[in-house]
Amino acid sequence: MRIAVYPGSFDPLTNGHLDIIRRAARLFDRVLVAVLENEGKAPLFSVPERMELISRCTDSIAGVEVHSFSGLLVDFMRRANASVVVRGIRAVSDYEYELQMALMNRQLNADAETIFMLPAVEYTYVSSRLVKEVFRLGGDVAHLVPAAVLDALKDRLAVTAAR
Ligand code: PNS
Repeated sequence: MRIAVYPGSFDPLTNGHLDIIRRAARLFDRVLVAVLENEGKAPLFSVPERMELISRCTDSIAGVEVHSFSGLLVDFMRRANASVVVRGIRAVSDYEYELQMALMNRQLNADAETIFMLPAVEYTYVSSRLVKEVFRLGGDVAHLVPAAVLDALKDRLAVTAAR
C-alpha cells in the first residue's frame, strides 16, 4: 500500500491545496493531509478548525485522511507508515525552501522520499497568506478557496471585527 503525507499549515486550505490533494489521491492508496501544530505562527484558524475544514472539503475524495502532527515530519511518517512526502510547488521561488526541507527530511530518514507536484496553472499564485490578506482588506477570494473556507473566513472576519 502506497501511503503519502501532504503536510502543511493549511491556514486555511486553498483551492491550490485541494488541487494537489486531488492529484495525489490519484497516485497513492492513502493521502494523509497532515496539519502542523505550530503554536508559534499565530494562526487564524485553530488546528481542529483547519482539520474540520479540510475534512469537509475532501470527504468525496477516496483515500484522503486528515491528521495533525507536532514534532518532526519524519517521526509522524514513521508512525503512519508513510514513505512519501507530497509538496506543491507553485513557482521557482518555492523551490529553494522546498529543496532544503526535502533534503533535511531525507537526511533524517533516508526512506523519506519527497515528490513535488504542480497545481493547476490558475492556482500558481494562490497562498493561504495572500488569501487572508486580500480577504481582510475586502478583496474577493471566492474563486481561490472552497466554499466552506470562504464561509469560515466570513465568520472569522466578523468575529475579528467585533472585537
Ligand atoms: O505549509 P507550510 O507551512 O509551508 O508547511 C511546512 C511544513 C509543515 C511542511 C514544515 O514546517 C514541517 O514539516 N514542519 C515539521 C517540523 C520538521 O519536521 N522540520 C524539519 C524538516 S524541514
